[in-house]
Amino acid sequence: MEPSKAAVIAVANHKGGCGKTTTCINLADNLAQMGKSVLVIDMDPQANSSLHIGLNHPAEIRYTAAEMLLNLELPLQAFIHTDTRVEGVALIYGSMGLETIGDTLKNNHPRPNEVLRARLEPLLDHIDYIIIDCPPSLQILTMNALAASTHYLVPLESGAPYGAYGLSDLNKRVGQIKLINPTLDFLGALLIWHDDRLSLCRQNEEDATKMFGKVIPIKIGTSSKINQSAAIKVPLRLIDKNNHIAKQYKELAEHIDGVVAQEYA
Ligand SMILES: Nc1ncnc2c1ncn2[C@@H]1O[C@H](COP(=O)(O)OP(=O)(O)OP(=O)(O)O)[C@@H](O)[C@H]1O
Ligand SMILES: [Mg+2]
Repeated sequence: MEPSKAAVIAVANHKGGCGKTTTCINLADNLAQMGKSVLVIDMDPQANSSLHIGLNHPAEIRYTAAEMLLNLELPLQAFIHTDTRVEGVALIYGSMGLETIGDTLKNNHPRPNEVLRARLEPLLDHIDYIIIDCPPSLQILTMNALAASTHYLVPLESGAPYGAYGLSDLNKRVGQIKLINPTLDFLGALLIWHDDRLSLCRQNEEDATKMFGKVIPIKIGTSSKINQSAAIKVPLRLIDKNNHIAKQYKELAEHIDGVVAQEYA
């Protein structure tokens, strides 16, 4: 990776509710606190990260990620909202419109998985981090996110009985994307709801290591404050900076920034 280029990180897992959005928000917040310039792109029609980070409701926003992918003549700046609820974090909103753009992308582009990548290219020299919140699906939106990324990470519900089960499809898709984005780098599986004392969590860590080959050394535990943080739309750090999860997300940001810095070296 060239030193001046942005690190683009897709947070992907087609399983719903495994912590993708929570990770995007708290990772972005902590990277911004470290002085990095950060943009979150919400590629999920549910628009949960937009609901959290944005000052407006996504339905009120004219130019969201959907329009960005459809109207290539509009300048990228039209989509970037620098004024958000999270200091130092800019946002490209997601919206319901993302749900229905798949066919148009397929009909209008010879390489429909690479529209986001082409769109972001002019931005890469001007920002440190782009974090992409993916929808719970492996379809064209996640494929676009992976094709546009330099890195990806996979949040996993560590305490769940089927933790890493069913995720081989994700690896298959990544294999396909690597044909067009060969330098896509895996940061690792990120264990969430993790408790080392529980045998189920230890088993899931073992399964994740087998399936993905790499587990991020920072693990995220469980806290009801996460829901509280989503409800009042502020990053966890601002609710309680001594909360164990707030500290773990800070460590995660430092870990990822260290990995990226090493690649530049
Ligand atoms: N470490 C945690 N401890 C407790 N609750 C958490 C934790 N991480 C996330 N949650 C809660 O779990 C729910 C799902 O999290 P989140 O929305 O981040 O998942 P997601 O993967 O983005 O979901 P989707 O696939 O629907 O986009 C949310 O209510 C969130 O507040
Ligand atoms: Mg989400």
